Amino acid sequence: MNIGVRYQSRGGNTKAVAEMIAKEFDVQALSIEHPVEEYTDILFLGGGVYGWKMDDSLCEFIKQLPKEKVGQIIAFSTTGFMESTLKQIRQEAEQKGIKVNKNELLVKMMLRGHSMLGLEGGNLKKEQQEKVQEFVKVIQKEIE
Ligand SMILES: Cc1cc2nc3c(=O)[nH]c(=O)nc-3n(C[C@H](O)[C@H](O)[C@H](O)COP(=O)(O)O)c2cc1C
Repeated sequence: MNIGVRYQSRGGNTKAVAEMIAKEFDVQALSIEHPVEEYTDILFLGGGVYGWKMDDSLCEFIKQLPKEKVGQIIAFSTTGFMESTLKQIRQEAEQKGIKVNKNELLVKMMLRGHSMLGLEGGNLKKEQQEKVQEFVKVIQKEIE
């Protein structure tokens, strides 16, 4: 099974989550600057929330995603608290006819690593790391 991980991250939080997920599946987490070129059964795709929505670059990435090369998307997001990016990933992908798994991961950062406030991102708290690990276990079970 071919698994891919792509992330959009301004401050490093989503990148940190992407790298945790990728490590568990023994693949590399790549930014959305890297298009999906070979068939990918499961594409983990994540981004942050900025001003109530996902970054335009992530929206564009989904629009450019070759439908025939993606079996399904599993969405993840880091956020102050809003779920908008998860919802938008689902909406954009489904609009293109790409399946989006019902399981999705939302890691709430509150003000942690909020780059707008000059805080450094990418340092996940223990409970946030555990949440990612639990999520990965659920997916691993599902695809066993
Ligand atoms: C410019 C900016 C705007 C943000 N707007 C929101 C927002 O509207 N709602 C929210 O829940 N979080 C918001 N956040 C928090 C981010 O979603 C959160 O810090 C996330 O982890 C950022 O991901 P990144 O570090 O991968 O870029 C904002 C952060 C920044 C820097």
